[in-house]
Order: sequence, then structure tokens, then C-alpha cells
Amino acid sequence: MRLDYLTIFPDYLSPLRLSLPGKAIERGLLELYVHDLRQWAHDRHRTVDDTPYGGGAGMVMKPEPFGEAFAALEVATSPVAAGTTIVFTTPSGEPFTQRLAADLATRERLVFACGRYEGIDQRVIDHARTLAEVREISLGDYVLNGGEVAALAVTEAVVRLLPGFMGNAESLVEESHEDGLLEYPVYTKPASWQGYDVPPVLLSGDHGRIAAWRRQQAVERTALRRPDLLHASHASTEWPVTRATPGDAGELLTLTRACWVQEALANDTLDIPALHETLEQITTSLEAWDTYVVRSAGRLVGSVRGRLAPAADGSEETWWDIGRVCVAPDLQGRGLGRVLLDHIEAVAPAGAAAYALFTGAHSQANQRFYKRAGFRLRADLPAPPGAVMLTKPRRR
Ligand code: ADE
Repeated sequence: MRLDYLTIFPDYLSPLRLSLPGKAIERGLLELYVHDLRQWAHDRHRTVDDTPYGGGAGMVMKPEPFGEAFAALEVATSPVAAGTTIVFTTPSGEPFTQRLAADLATRERLVFACGRYEGIDQRVIDHARTLAEVREISLGDYVLNGGEVAALAVTEAVVRLLPGFMGNAESLVEESHEDGLLEYPVYTKPASWQGYDVPPVLLSGDHGRIAAWRRQQAVERTALRRPDLLHASHASTEWPVTRATPGDAGELLTLTRACWVQEALANDTLDIPALHETLEQITTSLEAWDTYVVRSAGRLVGSVRGRLAPAADGSEETWWDIGRVCVAPDLQGRGLGRVLLDHIEAVAPAGAAAYALFTGAHSQANQRFYKRAGFRLRADLPAPPGAVMLTKPRRR
């Protein structure tokens, strides 16, 4: 991953060379460049701000230095959605979340534009959107003096998610926010300290009870401190998943076509096998695959399927092949895809060592969705034309 920072206070970003990103640079996972925005201001005083049109307090950052910087750093990508994201840190941006961090961690390049004063001339943001994906991000509902601290925070949250960076991938999955809940309380030795005892269940060695206790603690803590999160994380009660029956085949055909027509249009091809399946083929597939569906108000709105298959990497393992993660077009973006994916992972038979699936080679959004869920692109493994394989090791 490559990171660029545009700032009028380069020294403010010197912590980037320390600690976490510093380590990632050493390991060759990261390239990082801090640029003084004033090098693209050409008057005697290297002015980067001016008074706002229409009046009002404060100063606004001028467009020209940013425009020159974007050109000099060659931030434009084609298509615009590919590889690069330009991040504007601003109190009027979308809230920064773990989910957004995971999304940014899948990008090849992030260019941070750090605002100061009353903000950046809107035309800079409009122009940036013609060059690359743009995210305007806020650290929270408070106002800092500039975007540098926010850029540092975003960087730290993103860099620790880079594949191969954290030694213990499990600790990434289990921590606060990753599953929409705050983390459960943790304890270490000694078992008794100043009259406080570690909850006995943690000393029981019973992993099932420990997992249940932790989940309960996480839910209680979240309900108390962040009830807003609890609501979102309980998407699974809003979308109950059930095993598909032969009677679902007709609706599955309709849902599959609706999903894959969208996919086909987005990828400029009609050559997607799922699009051409017949009712008979779908009915037969219910025997070969464990298929699950979600209904909302009686309507079939989601599907997913899985089956055991020999590992695609030639090893002796058996993998759980996942397919047809499909959400009705009018309900996309509401967490149902994640519910389906979590479910099909959870029902994988004990013998499966990994999860594997295909998605469109050009489906950036789909690839990001799977990467957020812990899958990694496997360019080393074969895939049908126009598709790529992604895999994820099974947690034991
Ligand atoms: N710049 C100033 N305040 C900010 C905030 N809350 N988040 C991101 N950038 C900022």
C-alpha cells in the first residue's frame, strides 16, 4: 500500500515514521510520503488560504495548490473506482468506523488531504472525484484544529489491518467493533489481586462456556455504553436464515437473475453462468449444495450456498466452497450480504479447512465486501474467465 499526505504541517505527521506504520515500512508492506502543500503555492508568501466568498469568519484553503499536488502525485486512476482513494479529513465527513478502516485497508493507495482553517474550497473535492474514489472522513463530533490528527488516526487503524502486518490475525477478528460489539472484559494473572477475583468461568477450561460468557458480557457492555451499535449488530434477528427447500426453486431463479443481471451490467458481460441457469438446474443444485435463504415479509430476498470440495491449491485439505451470495437489489447495502456470508461460514462441516469463493475480477465492491469479511485474493489459484478466487482460513 502507498500512503501520501498533503499538509501544511509536515512535522505534525512525523509520528508516522514511528511505531506501527514505521514497522510496516520496514517490512516492505507500506510506502509513505508526506508532502508540504506549500511547495505547490507560488507567491512570495506561499499562500495556501484566502477569505471565503460570501463572507464569514476564518479562511478557506485555496484550490490551486491541491490541484497541482494531485497532478504532480499522479493520483488519477482509471477507472475512478480502482486502486486509489483520496481521503479528506474533515469534521463534516462521514464518521470513521472499523468498517471504513477495513474498507480502506483493501485499497492500493490512499492520498490524505489534511484541511486546516475553515475547510478546503469545495471545488477541490469535486475535482478529486473525477480522479479517484473520494471519502470525506470525520473522527468524531468535535472540531480539531486541522485534519492531521485525524489522518494519523485513520492511518493507524488501516495499517494494522494490512494482510501480513499483525502477527495474530485472530486478535484482529475478535476485538472491539469487528463484530459490531464492544469487546468483553479481559483478565490476566494473578487470578486474585487485591481481593478482586478473575470470573471463575475463565478458569474453567470449558471453551464453550467461556465463549458464551464473553459474548454475553460484550452484549451487556454494548447495551449499556453503545445501544446504537447493538441495534445494528443484531441484523441476524432481522434476517432469519433458513435452509432452502425445493419449493423455493422458482423464487431462487428470480432472485439469482435479478442479482446477476446487475452484476453482468456492471461488468459489461452477459457471460455469467448463474444468469443462464434454468429452473431444473436450480432445483437439482439444491441436492448438491447446502442452500440457505432469507425471507422478508414472505418474499425471498437473500440466498447463499456451500459445499465441501477438494482444496483448489492442490493440498490434501477439504474446503468449503461458497457461492451465490445474493441479495435482492432493493435491499442491498443493509447488512444482509454479511448475514448470509456469516451464516454459510458458521454451518461449514468440521472437515473444512478453509472457505473459498469466486467473484467478478472487475467487481471492486464485491471484492471489498469479501476482504472486509477476512477473505484474501488468490491470484495464484485458477478461476473461470472474468472471475477471481478468494479464500479465508477457517478459525478453529
Ligand atoms: N478536522 C477538524 N476536525 C476534524 C474531525 N473531527 N475529524 C476529522 N478531521 C477534522
